Amino acid sequence: MIFDRNDSKDVAVLLGAGSMGTAILRRVCAGMTILFGDISEKRLAEVKKEYEGYGYAVETQVVDANSKESIEAFAQKASSLGNVKYYIHTAGASPNQVSPEKIIALDLVGSAYALDAFGKVIAKGGAGLLISSQTGYMFPPLSQEEEVQIMTTPADKLAELPCLSSERITNSGTAYIVAKKANHLQVQYAAAHAWGERGARINTISPGIIVTPLAYDEFNANGEGYQRMIDATPAKRVGSPDEVGAAGAFLLSDAASYITGTDLLVDGGTIAALKNGKFRLG
Ligand SMILES: NC(=O)c1ccc[n+]([C@@H]2O[C@H](COP(=O)([O-])OP(=O)(O)OC[C@H]3O[C@@H](n4cnc5c(N)ncnc54)[C@H](O)[C@@H]3O)[C@@H](O)[C@H]2O)c1
Repeated sequence: MIFDRNDSKDVAVLLGAGSMGTAILRRVCAGMTILFGDISEKRLAEVKKEYEGYGYAVETQVVDANSKESIEAFAQKASSLGNVKYYIHTAGASPNQVSPEKIIALDLVGSAYALDAFGKVIAKGGAGLLISSQTGYMFPPLSQEEEVQIMTTPADKLAELPCLSSERITNSGTAYIVAKKANHLQVQYAAAHAWGERGARINTISPGIIVTPLAYDEFNANGEGYQRMIDATPAKRVGSPDEVGAAGAFLLSDAASYITGTDLLVDGGTIAALKNGKFRLG
């Protein structure tokens, strides 16, 4: 049975087919072709089956979001499918999953490659979202000069910056804070302008503690620290992928047509609690 005879569909792209990404995607992709990218073939098979079951035309591609070539090939695939209306980037790892070097390579450099690659294929009137983190607000150990270096250095030279070297960034927690801060800086300073040249918008979302497989890896490693954080927040609870989904859908939609180059905290007030001294890190 052919459910949809419209062959000039827009394309909604998700790189990192995890919990938050799919929660955003499913709110915005009606009537579109969906392109999923992920490093996990198993995960791609699951989402393909699920979304085809809902009647969508679904394409998948194995992508390593650490690799410039892999991301560029993914952007080309997206462009070959039609008008790239939405790009959602959630491929990332958390501090207790990988080494500091891998966090910098994936969460920082990989994100920069994706901003560049999709900034070249996003459609006029399109929009993008990069999932950063509340940790981007947690005192990154960077000077103002180093922040400028991160904002102005081309993606494939970022790993050479001394402020991102393994001598400077010795643990995964610091790497994660720096990477997520860098996401904010790169979107504000560079990507918003490149995407704006094409008539498109790009923003970041900074989630707080959202219950996903990635978050369980963090809870298992540092349950007490997370409990203290949750207790101190105004919301007094964790968040759900669907709450990030609602915020993401807003930022991608025409209701947010004048919003670009900015970050939206979706954290139940964690950063408000930190600034207020309700809890301390460490
Ligand atoms: N869950 C939280 O509490 C939380 C809070 C703040 C920020 N974040 C950020 O949100 C993003 C998504 O996290 P999530 O919680 O939805 O996790 P998730 O585990 O549900 O999804 C992450 C997806 O990324 C994929 N992925 C991992 N490495 C990849 C690679 N190299 N190339 C391509 N795909 C890759 C995984 O296979 C997975 O499908 C991450 O960047 C994470 O740092 C999560």
